[in-house]
Amino acid sequence: MEIDRRTCLNSLGGVAASEILTHEAKADALEDYLSTRLNELVGLQQGASSSPFPSVADLESQIETRPSRRGVGNLFVSRTGNVKRLDQMPPKPQLIDFFRHRFMATSNHCLQSATKALKSGMSEDVVVACLLHDVVQEIIKVDHGWWGAQLVEPYISDKAAFAIRYHQALRFYADPANGYEYPDLYRRIFGHDYRPEPYIETTYKMVRAHKWYGEARMVTVNDLYAFDPNAQVSLDAFVDIIGRNFKGPREGLGYDNSPVAHMWRTIERPDAPL
Ligand SMILES: [Fe+2]
Ligand SMILES: [Fe+2]
Repeated sequence: MEIDRRTCLNSLGGVAASEILTHEAKADALEDYLSTRLNELVGLQQGASSSPFPSVADLESQIETRPSRRGVGNLFVSRTGNVKRLDQMPPKPQLIDFFRHRFMATSNHCLQSATKALKSGMSEDVVVACLLHDVVQEIIKVDHGWWGAQLVEPYISDKAAFAIRYHQALRFYADPANGYEYPDLYRRIFGHDYRPEPYIETTYKMVRAHKWYGEARMVTVNDLYAFDPNAQVSLDAFVDIIGRNFKGPREGLGYDNSPVAHMWRTIERPDAPL
């Protein structure tokens, strides 16, 4: 398939935007671009619909063209050759260390979301939820709302964990009154004719009627569905907020015998064979 460099760069938000992306994020964006372009070509060849987005059937037909499944976590695969050796983690690692040394593919996106929430005056529960909402995708992408909330819920407020758990379901349902439209990115990732599974629909209805709906909805409002070329993000702005809202264990994440300690160790040591 022929790749138009300019069109490809534009799909990443331009040269400036592509320069701030990590290699993994560039690879994901490139894969999106390539699969979109592939579907456009298939559509043209078949005289099919003029939709710029693939259908659910198109996406299912691609499953056996990949060496890994779409739900695999970022730390376990590389789309640009071999995986890289990871930095040594300090003893008793804390959340900041994971941001610096393990959340390579998700930190920019999460920091952009949290920065947006901070600038628009959201509560610290919402800012924290935005900061952590997708980090679990380093180990798994399937049902990342549920996995993501489980990973951090011993250390944050119930409200922030609720917002992380349910942003996954809410993102499929527009709420224009609160500033959330269904994103084109999902037409590309899930297919233009995708309908959420019944468990997502049931969850959405429960959350819609819940007193913390607003917090979960604000994670989707502050989520980002395109690459912002002008975004300047830094963890520094969140050190105090993390200190106030994330009660990391003295022993270090992964070593506190909590029910989620093994999840943090998995992020720290994804090269362990068993
Ligand atoms: Fe998410
Ligand atoms: Fe996100």
